[in-house]
Amino acid sequence: MKRNIHFSLIFFLSLLMFIFVTFPVDARKTNMKKKLHKHHKESHPHSTQVNTYDIMSFGANGNGVSDDSQAFLAAWKSACKVASATIKVPEKLNFLIKAITLQGPCMPGLTLQIDGTILAPSQVSSWPKSSLFQWINFKWVQNFTIKGDGTIDGQGFNWWKNSELSDIQKTHSKQIPSMKPTAIRFYSSNLISVKDIKIINSPLCHLKFDNSNRIKVDNITISSPQSSPNTDGIHLQNTHDVEIQHSNIGTGDDCVSIQTGCSNIHVHHIKCGPGHGISLGGLGKDKSLACVSDIIVADIAMKNTLYGARIKTWQGGNGMVKNVTFSRIKVHDVMYPIMIDQYYCDKQICKNQTGTVMISGVKFDQISGTYAMQPVHLACSNSIPCTDVDLTDIQLRPSLEYRGYEQAMCWNSYGKSQGELVPSSIDYCLRSGGGLIKRIAKSRDSVCYKLL
Ligand SMILES: *[C@@H]1O[C@H](CO)[C@@H](O)[C@H](O)[C@H]1NC(C)=O
Ligand SMILES: *[C@@H]1O[C@H](CO)[C@@H](O)[C@H](O)[C@H]1NC(C)=O
Ligand SMILES: *[C@@H]1O[C@H](CO)[C@@H](O)[C@H](O)[C@H]1NC(C)=O
Ligand SMILES: *[C@@H]1O[C@H](CO)[C@@H](O)[C@H](O)[C@H]1NC(C)=O
Repeated sequence: MKRNIHFSLIFFLSLLMFIFVTFPVDARKTNMKKKLHKHHKESHPHSTQVNTYDIMSFGANGNGVSDDSQAFLAAWKSACKVASATIKVPEKLNFLIKAITLQGPCMPGLTLQIDGTILAPSQVSSWPKSSLFQWINFKWVQNFTIKGDGTIDGQGFNWWKNSELSDIQKTHSKQIPSMKPTAIRFYSSNLISVKDIKIINSPLCHLKFDNSNRIKVDNITISSPQSSPNTDGIHLQNTHDVEIQHSNIGTGDDCVSIQTGCSNIHVHHIKCGPGHGISLGGLGKDKSLACVSDIIVADIAMKNTLYGARIKTWQGGNGMVKNVTFSRIKVHDVMYPIMIDQYYCDKQICKNQTGTVMISGVKFDQISGTYAMQPVHLACSNSIPCTDVDLTDIQLRPSLEYRGYEQAMCWNSYGKSQGELVPSSIDYCLRSGGGLIKRIAKSRDSVCYKLL
């Protein structure tokens, strides 16, 4: 409700801004067209078409060696002022871009057309210590599209090496900072579409949205080696109304990672692997409040991933995960296809704590294929059980790589199982009832209502 009011306000303001800016720009466009027509033999300094801003016309070299950041920024600044402008990164060329922020607000309908390759600096030492958070940062951008046949290459191989070192070696290794950059980040941005492009080899996460709304990701490819640590494909935080579809994601970590403050997220028709599958969390770290709701993950093919459909929370958190559906997921040689882990821990041992992010209303539906470790692993909190967990039409068989437990495991988890269930241990895995816990769910609901 609160968010709706927020939305209407933003919409109303955008409408005002749109009306305000459209008229003078239309007038300008007509003037420009007239001028172009008059001097049609003169070449336009920045573009062939009125609304196209080719970064080559802003001084880019496109040789992959010299720094083209200033040209990129200049093209952005010019295009940003014009409605429905296109910034072109032309094909067959390589553009070396350092850590930059491309900032809005811009006129609506801006497009970044990437047909060539954008490269990050490959030497760790050439990254300033002050800009290790991300490489390309889109900030306060509205109604904006990235598309094209091109590639965004984070050249992360020098950053990944660190993970092979021990903790002691790491503290002595001055070259590689512990913070690594995300490749593409959208911060506080709305109405964003990312399609067709490839994003590869990020030092850390490939594509991140935080504090953003109305996001569409379609037909993209994300890849980095299986051995690259913490290289999530797509990472969402405090972000609402998202559709991620028809994409191919294979990295060293989660294909899609949904973090706190996310709602109304629809992820479908994704090929995922290698990596850690599609995850909600880790939520509730350091006793924090975490709220995630209204998530649909459907029509997914997972191959050689560590997990399939997963929810992970740290012990000690607060808040709630609710209304989550994982359906029509085909797994091939996945270690743990169905997983709830409320004891998530990044060390050998984490302290036992009583609080937890409550989990309620999770459907696992039509999940089939092969597993290598355990078909179903639901480890819910000792303090507050998971409720309304449904397991429907689950058919999981050991893969050729199988070396684990054939029994489904459910701990402190209430719900119902139905339809075809293989292995049959899934049928008596969940507990029935759990009515008393509904009261806790209600109070968590009101805590999260304020956050989402
Ligand atoms: C985005 O901008 C374009 C170009 O100005 C406009 O036609 C379109 O309606 C805008 N989209 C939304 C959802 O406001
Ligand atoms: C998907 O993106 C590729 C470029 O990476 C493009 O060639 C193809 O036409 C796109 N497919 C659709 C359905 O748009
Ligand atoms: C659950 O989430 C889905 C997807 O966002 C939404 O369409 C549906 O209305 C939600 N159901 C409830 C009971 O809130
Ligand atoms: C946490 O609790 C579990 C189960 O009660 C117990 O087996 C385990 O040893 C405890 N761990 C620590 C670190 O206290």
